[in-house]
Amino acid sequence: MAVEFEKEDGILWFKLNRPEALNAINEDVVKAFRELINRIKTEKDIRVVVITGSGKAFCAGADIKMFSESDFFKAREIISELGKILDEMEDLDVPVIAAVNGYALGGGCEIAMACDIIIASENASFGQPEINLGIIPGLGGTQRLSRLVGWKKAMELCLTGERISAKEAEKLGLVNKVVAAEKLEEEVKKLAELIKSKSPYAVGFIKQAVNRGYKMGLKDALQYERDLFGLSFATEDAREGIKAFVEKRKAEFMKDRA
Ligand code: COA
Repeated sequence: MAVEFEKEDGILWFKLNRPEALNAINEDVVKAFRELINRIKTEKDIRVVVITGSGKAFCAGADIKMFSESDFFKAREIISELGKILDEMEDLDVPVIAAVNGYALGGGCEIAMACDIIIASENASFGQPEINLGIIPGLGGTQRLSRLVGWKKAMELCLTGERISAKEAEKLGLVNKVVAAEKLEEEVKKLAELIKSKSPYAVGFIKQAVNRGYKMGLKDALQYERDLFGLSFATEDAREGIKAFVEKRKAEFMKDRA
């Protein structure tokens, strides 16, 4: 199977599993991403998703062998489908953590950037090497990257195709945290558990306010935040969270999403 799904106690692990091709993205991987979105929408007990890779790569980008057999229409269709899926993933109410265990290149770097938090192992590396193939990034490499690391740095990374280490990526603000390779799973699990302990409504509203707001002008984004604040205030979890504080006890939030 190109991707392995494993759900454990509200955390859905989505593991790219083509280690022989450094988890390169082919049509099966794109289909698995579609399944991921469908599962998030229908399985309300999923509270956090973790995307990771097997072997020495997170994902080395689009499958170049597949590209060698694709014409313009086919290549555009595959990339457009995954691009729309990544946009949708950003808009859903479940946080997605990228556990970057190795190479995150091209589409791999772009998948990580569409996740909400990126935790990388110290041996991971990032880059947009498409230029070496005579093409350009198609899944956010020229867009999300410049918003994350700044305009000029993104330009340099895309124009040179050079790889950067996890530590450099952390300094640039592309990665939230770098951890020892053998601690990656444990650290990501700890983070997922912490997020899971919060109200699923508040988590969902925050994700949507940050991600959708990021794509709006500031005035509209601030209005959107105020609207979502109002909605969060109307939930049972808001009543419980505020009451628990006053009563000096731990809040008992809902376990599943609405
Ligand atoms: N698509 C398809 N296969 C890929 C791949 C990709 N994007 N990246 C790596 N592979 C395959 C290699 O062809 C090789 O297969 P083989 O054993 O059948 O020859 C296998 O994965 C291992 O890769 P290899 O190059 O031997 O590993 P490495 O550690 O020496 O180098 C990279 C790793 C990531 C630096 C190198 O594989 C690379 O540059 N890959 C392409 C990255 C890229 O351009 N991505 C953007 C695509 S649009």
